[in-house]
Amino acid sequence: MTLLELDGLRKEFGSRPVHVAVDDVSLTVTEGETLALVGESGCGKTTLTRLLLRLMEPTAGSVRFDGQDLAALSPAQLRSVRRQMQVVLQDPYSSMNPRMRISDIVAEPLVTHDPDARGRRGRARSRERVGELLESVGLPATIQDRYPHEFSGGQRQRVSIARALALEPRLVVLDEPTSALDVSVQAQVLDLLAELQQRLGLTYVFVSHNLAVVRQVADRVAVMRHGKLVEVGAAADVFGAPQHPYTRQLLDAVPVPDPRRARRTRSRPRTEAV
Ligand SMILES: Nc1ncnc2c1ncn2[C@@H]1O[C@H](COP(=O)(O)OP(=O)(O)OP(=O)(O)O)[C@@H](O)[C@H]1O
Ligand SMILES: [Mg+2]
Repeated sequence: MTLLELDGLRKEFGSRPVHVAVDDVSLTVTEGETLALVGESGCGKTTLTRLLLRLMEPTAGSVRFDGQDLAALSPAQLRSVRRQMQVVLQDPYSSMNPRMRISDIVAEPLVTHDPDARGRRGRARSRERVGELLESVGLPATIQDRYPHEFSGGQRQRVSIARALALEPRLVVLDEPTSALDVSVQAQVLDLLAELQQRLGLTYVFVSHNLAVVRQVADRVAVMRHGKLVEVGAAADVFGAPQHPYTRQLLDAVPVPDPRRARRTRSRPRTEAV
């Protein structure tokens, strides 16, 4: 089933000259899959995710979530659709108020979306729910009263995943979720994401520079360049038989074990390879 449908999305910034950050992007995402969005820095990946989350208005084009055109929804309807789409960013620390306890950080979406979560009864229930969420991301429920700076990058990323799951979303946009982490921690967070996806039936839009990570997580890959999608396909096809020269260029920039292949590598678009 198609969960997300982008049609002719365009986003312009500035004027004279207009900068087209997203240029006529059409794409569908099927429920339960991981669609990876790859491309060099500045090609428009984050802008595209902000458009699909409707955190930003497109200049043209439409976003349908579960068949509903987001632009046609009333504010109340949009709020209820928004609950179903959550986001996890690269650097969780920058999106966490350092003076908030872990319990308040994870409960924030609950409190925002559910007025009953306030008040004494609501708070007790939300504490219980936060405990469950923390355990579901591999953290002890007992850390609720602690502060973000007491945790490592990987643990903080787990906290932000718990927060993203608080409202039981169907779609999670992960924008470079492991790029700030050490390789071993990165692997653990990727395992967690895979386990959560299976258990909860989540759909992921996974933005990454790192093709080694993409190869590991993606069902389908969309390759973006200068705001346009140049290639979209099953991960095995895109990696195994890339159609577009730019995709080949990206793949060539990833260190590969075969020295003959490595020697053919010429140009290197920016990637963060492991
Ligand atoms: N709010 C904005 N106002 C003006 N220009 C913007 C804005 N947001 C993004 N841009 C520009 O749009 C282009 C795409 O930016 P975007 O952040 O989407 O790229 P990206 O692919 O996510 O890059 P990175 O991999 O570095 O995160 C860039 O040229 C950027 O400078
Ligand atoms: Mg970005």
